[in-house]
Amino acid sequence: MDIKYSKLISEMGEYAFAEIDKKADSLRKKGVKVIDFGVGDPKSPTPDFVIDNLSNFARNRASSGYPSYIGDINYRQACAKYIKREYNVELNPETEISSTIGSKEAIFNFPTGFINPGDVVICPTPGYPVYKTGTKFRNGKVYFTPLLEKNNFLIDFALIPDSVAHKAKIIWTNYPNSPTGASAPKEWLQVLVSWAKHFNVIIAADEGCYNDIYFEEKPISLLEIQKEGIITFYSLSKRSNMTGYRVGFVAGDERIISGFKKVKTNIDSGTPSFIQDAASLALGDQVEVLKMREEYKKKRDIMIDALTSCGLETPKGDSTFYLWQKAPKGLNSIKFSKALVELGIIVTPGQLISDEADGLNPGQNFVRFALVPTIEEITEAAARIKENLKI
Ligand SMILES: Cc1ncc(COP(=O)(O)O)c(C=O)c1O
Repeated sequence: MDIKYSKLISEMGEYAFAEIDKKADSLRKKGVKVIDFGVGDPKSPTPDFVIDNLSNFARNRASSGYPSYIGDINYRQACAKYIKREYNVELNPETEISSTIGSKEAIFNFPTGFINPGDVVICPTPGYPVYKTGTKFRNGKVYFTPLLEKNNFLIDFALIPDSVAHKAKIIWTNYPNSPTGASAPKEWLQVLVSWAKHFNVIIAADEGCYNDIYFEEKPISLLEIQKEGIITFYSLSKRSNMTGYRVGFVAGDERIISGFKKVKTNIDSGTPSFIQDAASLALGDQVEVLKMREEYKKKRDIMIDALTSCGLETPKGDSTFYLWQKAPKGLNSIKFSKALVELGIIVTPGQLISDEADGLNPGQNFVRFALVPTIEEITEAAARIKENLKI
């Protein structure tokens, strides 16, 4: 039998990190302790108060069958309470919130409800790859707009031609931003809202993946500006170290949430009810999340100290657990990543997680450190950088 993959799948790129992985493996075989800043998956455990309650939640739900696609009303109320507590925004849990199986599926499926083939979706680059794949899988057209250091990694609306904006249905934004660590000031969010209103573009704001991880000023939510024309994506993955639980929610304009619910009901079967219960509990937490924030700050400060002491320029992101480190003059992101691998330190080359915009790859001179190793490992990595990084 002849098995043929679809054009879409056949054209998808190969695993981009193969060469660096190979080098890391050979170092491990030689007995070098490799410190991995590559993948943005926290290694710290889910808080005990969540784990301790899981079996009770499962028992209470023993006969509850399939979960609600859009989330139990109790869960949606917990989401509304969280948004009220954090941003002082009132949401109607019946109409303005839906649960998600973590943000990834929601981000991927969202365009299905709002674009037709050929419609334009504006995606930031560098950016979470699912913004573009969700569009491409629906035969939409991706327009990449670059996040540049000179603009504090904020989208510059002057770079988006009116001809593109008129054809656009959705713009993805992601602040606090992965991978640059930038947060968006209120003035920029206001410009975003008026730009989107002018061109009648839905704002899909992936703001709640890292909103709780910040070091100086607390990031504000786009919902504080308005709900009209906006959907925001929230996740328990990073705020409560629950990546494996697959749970989050969306909130915003009830017409957009209603379209999203319709898509979702046709695609998935919802997050298990007992996990929704665990997420409701985790959303109430303000203690563990504070400890986590302090730990990431400590890690960030250790790394910034080491990198700047080698004479490197380090954009000081004020949120997320990423450092978007500039390569030394004369090295691009791949060469700099290889220099770090020689020290047993794995990072993600910026150009592999960025797409070209206007003929330029905005990640070509950056590498991404995900601050997920332990404090001890990070201290060790910092010492290796200070002592041995030759630039
Ligand atoms: C910017 C951004 N958005 C969304 C996600 C998806 O997170 P999850 O599906 O675990 O909620 C990630 C995961 O790393 C991310 O970095």
